[in-house]
Amino acid sequence: MGTASRIPAAANSLLLAAPAGGAAGVIGETGTGCGVGPAWLATGAGAGVRLVSVERDPRRAGVAAGVFADRPDVEVVVGDRRRIAEQGPYDLLVLDGGRAGKSGADDVFADPARLLVPGGRIVVDDFTPAGSWPPRHAGDVDRVRLHWLERPMLDTVELPLAGDLATLVGTRRRERQAARPGE
Ligand SMILES: C[S@@+](CC[C@H](N)C(=O)[O-])C[C@H]1O[C@@H](n2cnc3c(N)ncnc32)[C@H](O)[C@@H]1O
Repeated sequence: MGTASRIPAAANSLLLAAPAGGAAGVIGETGTGCGVGPAWLATGAGAGVRLVSVERDPRRAGVAAGVFADRPDVEVVVGDRRRIAEQGPYDLLVLDGGRAGKSGADDVFADPARLLVPGGRIVVDDFTPAGSWPPRHAGDVDRVRLHWLERPMLDTVELPLAGDLATLVGTRRRERQAARPGE
């Protein structure tokens, strides 16, 4: 998958806060950690937007829940990343729940369009920039990256953020509307 060794703080925070600003309804995240990422998401989100984040480690989830104790619009769910499917669909979904959580191997993530509203975005980070096509990591074709780049219902781009860091941002395609008479 090409996991980067470090995430420049400014790039990471901008990456989360900026798309959160474009979300109109619900933001989802897998892998809450202690709440730093969700804090950036909540900072960027507009009024009335709800944030749901799932963390499997109860201790970390407890710390994060404390961070958002005075934010009824932010919910920390304790459990496996698949629980993100219990709510949504999302305007923005950030996958940060460990390597396997980004692989698309789980049924729930096999078709990300199920989790996103039309026009909704998915952010999958911690890749190294691709230097070839098909993208490779450690000598092998990078199937994790291809999973997101080749999803038929997503338009996905890779954003290089640093020499050793890239992020994938996908947008669920909107249905083409039937033309009205005269158009
Ligand atoms: C890199 S940390 C999260 C950082 C956080 N998103 C942030 O930006 O501050 C990844 C987190 O994913 C959690 N995690 C790993 N596998 C998970 C799974 N299957 N379900 C839910 N959370 C998971 C880990 O416990 C860890 O807290």
